[in-house]
Amino acid sequence: MAKKQIKGWDYSPAPESTSHIDLKKRYDLYINGEWVKPSSKKYFKTINPANEELLAEVAHANEKDVDKAVKAARKAYNEVWSKTSPSERAKYIFRIARLMQERSREFAVIESLDAGKTIRESRDVDVPLACNHFFYNAGWADKLEFAFPNRKIESLGVAGQIIPWNFPLLMAAWKIAPALATGNTVVLKPAETTPLTALKLAEIIHDSGLPPGVVNIVTGYGDTGAAIVNHEDVDKIAFTGSTGVGKIIQKAVAGTNKKTTLELGGKSANIIMDDAPLDQAVEGIINGIFFNQGHVCCAGSRLFVQESVYDKVIEKLKHRMNSLIVGDPLDKNTDIGAINSKEQLDIINGYLKIGKDEGVEMYQSTCDIPGNGFYCRPTLVLNVAQSSRLVQEEIFGPVLAIQTFRTVDEVIQKANNTPFGLAAGVWTDKGSRIFNLTTKLRAGVVWANTYNKFDPASPFGGYKESGFGREGGLHGLEGYLKMN
Ligand code: NAI
Ligand code: MG
Repeated sequence: MAKKQIKGWDYSPAPESTSHIDLKKRYDLYINGEWVKPSSKKYFKTINPANEELLAEVAHANEKDVDKAVKAARKAYNEVWSKTSPSERAKYIFRIARLMQERSREFAVIESLDAGKTIRESRDVDVPLACNHFFYNAGWADKLEFAFPNRKIESLGVAGQIIPWNFPLLMAAWKIAPALATGNTVVLKPAETTPLTALKLAEIIHDSGLPPGVVNIVTGYGDTGAAIVNHEDVDKIAFTGSTGVGKIIQKAVAGTNKKTTLELGGKSANIIMDDAPLDQAVEGIINGIFFNQGHVCCAGSRLFVQESVYDKVIEKLKHRMNSLIVGDPLDKNTDIGAINSKEQLDIINGYLKIGKDEGVEMYQSTCDIPGNGFYCRPTLVLNVAQSSRLVQEEIFGPVLAIQTFRTVDEVIQKANNTPFGLAAGVWTDKGSRIFNLTTKLRAGVVWANTYNKFDPASPFGGYKESGFGREGGLHGLEGYLKMN
């Protein structure tokens, strides 16, 4: 393996071992507490995007398989789960959390292999947060009457959950843990490029002794997701993914009784005021857009810098960018791993081409990138017009669009001028400026002097085309309950 070179620095390779992980060559569907073959008889491949090597074959569920999973979930709901006491439900959820924790190293390595994200992130962010979501929701299971005092609450029934490829295990935890805590049963579909940690989670759920049918995991493509959405015996659809598919789902559930939460795309603004601590702000910008290769729905993909500190910020940003290591996701020194798929890399490169065609000024870091696998150098798009597609559209890659502003009113107007409204960041020394901006920015989450911080107790979700409903915290439980 080649050594990584950073201006004057040499790091020896420090790859995480893969010897302790246990992956099957082929995965079937996890329905009613058993591994069952797909009636389609079809399997698809999931690869490691860092080197394009095959990891496993995974079943492609069709409508019949989805129907089987929904029936199992309905039966488990009617006969077992809705009759299980809340404190018993909590015990199962705690057990799942502890089993995940025990196998956290295996989860982290498999997540990095399947998704291309760095081991540093999967080990330090994805897996611990996923465990914490189970712990947090387990704690609420027998206290729902205190969470929602003076309300008559009831579970919904069968929850259909469809998740994306950017945080595969974490999104499974966000969805499954509150559904179980509130007494629902689940049919979950992971994304086609990253099914492996959800299938590992199925193994753990099995080991926890959770009654058969309470959680079912079906793998497949968009057609499998659509079969869940359109199944008439599903009571709730929870979706995280693209705004395009979110709109299709919204149309499909219109006129039905299905409760829906959609967590969709974003084009979030990171705002640097002239009095901000600039070095910390630069770290925050880097974390905001380059974390997880920019595959973050709330990525700080637009940067607004107050004019008087613009030159300084850009100089510091370029300097810091050039020390970032892009490469093997399993290497503990790597800052930016692989783009999740060839399709996603093509989307990102398509936007870089649009930038070139529009004649905007771009800056890419000078680092080496591996010869095979899917990689993209971190990129700045400087002084770009509000009308540019690079400012308006979600790129979902390590590409940061930078604009300047003079006054607070101007930056509020510019930051809100987007169809999305998922998150924002404000960097300033002054508390009053923070409060002024947080109340006027139309975004579900606003971070002050930090970025991309998550906690199971804090609700997350969007405004406008970023979707509706909240996940996490008490609000997240509400999405799985009927309230009277
Ligand atoms: P996608 O929205 O197609 O995929 C998300 C999930 O939805 C996957 O499990 C997929 O199989 C499923 N799905 C696809 N079509 C469906 C349908 N008609 N009915 C039900 N489920 C369906 O996202 P994709 O194509 O992988 O990525 C394209 C773009 O979407 C990215 O470039 C990015 O901009 C955005 N995206 C946003 C995410 C977010 O967290 N907000 C996550 C993933 C992608
Ligand atoms: Mg994969």
